[in-house]
Amino acid sequence: MTQTVLITGANGGVGRLMRTRLAREGRVLRLLDVVRPEDPAEGEAVEIIEASVTDEAAMRAACEGAEAVIHLGGISVEAPWDGILSANIDGTRVVLEAARDAGVARVVLASSNHAAGFYDLDEAPEGGLPADAFPRPDTYYGVSKVAMEALGSLFHDRYGIDVTALRIGSCFEKPWDRRSLWTWMSPDDCARLLEACLATPGPGFRVVWGISRNTRRWWSLAEGEAIGYHPQDDSEIYAAEVPQEPAERLAGGKFCSTPLGEHM
Ligand SMILES: NC(=O)c1ccc[n+]([C@@H]2O[C@H](COP(=O)([O-])OP(=O)(O)OC[C@H]3O[C@@H](n4cnc5c(N)ncnc54)[C@H](O)[C@@H]3O)[C@@H](O)[C@H]2O)c1
Repeated sequence: MTQTVLITGANGGVGRLMRTRLAREGRVLRLLDVVRPEDPAEGEAVEIIEASVTDEAAMRAACEGAEAVIHLGGISVEAPWDGILSANIDGTRVVLEAARDAGVARVVLASSNHAAGFYDLDEAPEGGLPADAFPRPDTYYGVSKVAMEALGSLFHDRYGIDVTALRIGSCFEKPWDRRSLWTWMSPDDCARLLEACLATPGPGFRVVWGISRNTRRWWSLAEGEAIGYHPQDDSEIYAAEVPQEPAERLAGGKFCSTPLGEHM
């Protein structure tokens, strides 16, 4: 049987990194973005949808026949409130309602470390900050991720949909500064984490940190391990390449001091 996985925001940085990594025999990736993703290469089991996650009819159609949704679409940095409210908060509601209406059993939400950016790095608990640490958003963007997690919890409790919200650190090819040495999630580990989210039996509602097995990590890996996520990469191999700026005091880094609502 074919497994169809809808990925929103598939034309973004993470979506493009995942496109080949999540390809599997017997799986179709349905790639949705407001900016049209590239057409399928020869033999690639991919469907393309150009639509906004705020478009209820388009999202209902996109969820038809999907086994799971990986919701990456939205604004990924600080920005004016209206845009954040529409794309990130209302967009997540529309995605979850469409998934429920179509009978999609499982949704993975791209939350962010910026839902909890105001934690003080000097107060590292043993084993790292738990993934369900109470939100301390550092921006309107961070607030939208707290709302995303709340919507995921609501749709699990009301309708029984399995929802895993990933508080992603920094998912890029390589770490590039001192902070990203502890926040990094390698693209291969991101694919491992998403596969764990798709495969783990009956996850219910969970929050999990999206990071690699970084020597300098400050967030817990326990919640990921509980769903079968065993990261294999460590940013430390890039440590010598990264500029040695002064250490940050707050987990959200420069998001904690960026003016609220201003485009980054
Ligand atoms: N990359 C990271 O390290 C990181 C860290 C924390 C959280 N996240 C979250 O993961 C997700 C993916 O991140 P990314 O780095 O790929 O971001 P990105 O900005 O590169 O990609 C986001 C994608 O969403 C699309 N999009 C925006 N509004 C949309 C809408 N209304 N409807 C449909 N698509 C829309 C954009 O066109 C873009 O292709 C985002 O939700 C982001 O907040 C990413």
